[in-house]
Formats: sequence, structure tokens, C-alpha cells
Amino acid sequence: MKNKSFKIAPSILAADLLNLEKEVIQAQKFGAYRISVDVMDGNFVPDITFGPNLVSQLKKILDIDIEVHLMVNNPESKINSFNQAGADVLTFHYESVNDSIEKTITEIKNLNCRVGLAINPDTEVDEIQKYLPDLDEVTVMTVVPGKGGQKLIQSCLLKVEKLVEIRTKLNLNYLIQIDGGVKKENIQSVIKSGADIAVAGTSVFNNESVEYNMKSLLNSL
Ligand code: DX5
Repeated sequence: MKNKSFKIAPSILAADLLNLEKEVIQAQKFGAYRISVDVMDGNFVPDITFGPNLVSQLKKILDIDIEVHLMVNNPESKINSFNQAGADVLTFHYESVNDSIEKTITEIKNLNCRVGLAINPDTEVDEIQKYLPDLDEVTVMTVVPGKGGQKLIQSCLLKVEKLVEIRTKLNLNYLIQIDGGVKKENIQSVIKSGADIAVAGTSVFNNESVEYNMKSLLNSL
């Protein structure tokens, strides 16, 4: 099934960080919808990655949007700094909020920033259903967050189908993004589930050129 409106959002977690400018410019040039920046705090997930400064540097060289994926505890404490750095979308995890999901959603929207809520593989759609009317995006993790290069968990795509059904039934307009393990070999199953966007790390940034990998993914749509 060809779906040319389906979007690829490369994740820089897998990029050659010593040549990051070249890598993201290539991704943009060869059709990336936006760049996904995986922020990890060493608590919500074991690794530590990027801060607001990197986002502001990337913002200077990119025309496409930047989505900041907050894999952090207490994300409400991070939203201002990443918004000021230029994040176009702030995605936080349902499993990571201390205070209130609704409050965090409101705070992000009050910054005139788009808001996404991410759910881990073992979190069901029912747990976030009440937030859906207020969200710009939902990210369905198709791997356990914290590492690139994992295998896509096919059963998570059932959650995408459920989110599509709810969106249609309630006439909502959130975008559905999946994140983790996307390859040209499985991208058709992702499209079939009804997702709008796929975050792709190691299938874009690896020992092949970004041009080759982007063309390979986009030609598989
Ligand atoms: C995992 C990150 C993903 C990851 C995707 O915690 O959220 O964005 O970088 O990498 P691949 O595409 O290699 O699974």
C-alpha cells in the first residue's frame, strides 16, 4: 500500500555526532519530515543524552521542525528550557509525570508549542484516552525506550489501530507517531496500522549514507 503522506522523522540518537550538522542537513535534504531529539536523563531511562543547547544549535541550521522526545522523570521541569531552545513539539511520557498529565499538557500548550504524549509498550491506550482531546500527537513506543537499534514490537501497532479508531469516532485530530525499530522491511506494517509518522534512528543513520537510507525508506512507503 503506497502512502506518500506518511512521514519519516530521523532520530539523532543513532547519528554520527562528530558530523551531526552534515547528517541532519542530509536527512532534511532527502525528505525528513522533522528531526527527533531523544532527551534522556539517566533516570527515566539509563542513558544520558542531549540538552537544550543542542536543540538551539540544530534550530540554527534546519528548516524542518524539531521534536524533542523527553525520556526524563519530571518532564514539567524541562519544558521551558527546551521550548526556549526552539523545540517545535515537546513529547513527554505518560509514565514519567509526577504531578499531573493534564497540567503538563496545558503548560506546554501555553508555550505555543505542540504537545505529544508517549506511551511505553506496556501502557495501554485506555490509560491515556481521557487526554486525547487535548493532544497534538500521541507517540506509541514500539521499543522499550532508552536505546536505538532494537526490534520493533509488532503488537504495539494494535494500539495505533485503536488510536485511529478513537480519533475517527470522536472526530479528534492528534497525529499518531510510532518510535523504535522502524526499517524498510517493516514499514508497510506500520503504514497499514494507520500511523502518520515514524521515528527512525538506526535505519537512517548507519554505515550507509543518509541519502541512501532516506531514499530506501521513502521508496518503501
Ligand atoms: C529509543 C528512542 C528511539 C530510537 C529509535 O528510546 O526513543 O527514537 O532512537 O532508534 P531505532 O530506529 O534505531 O529503533
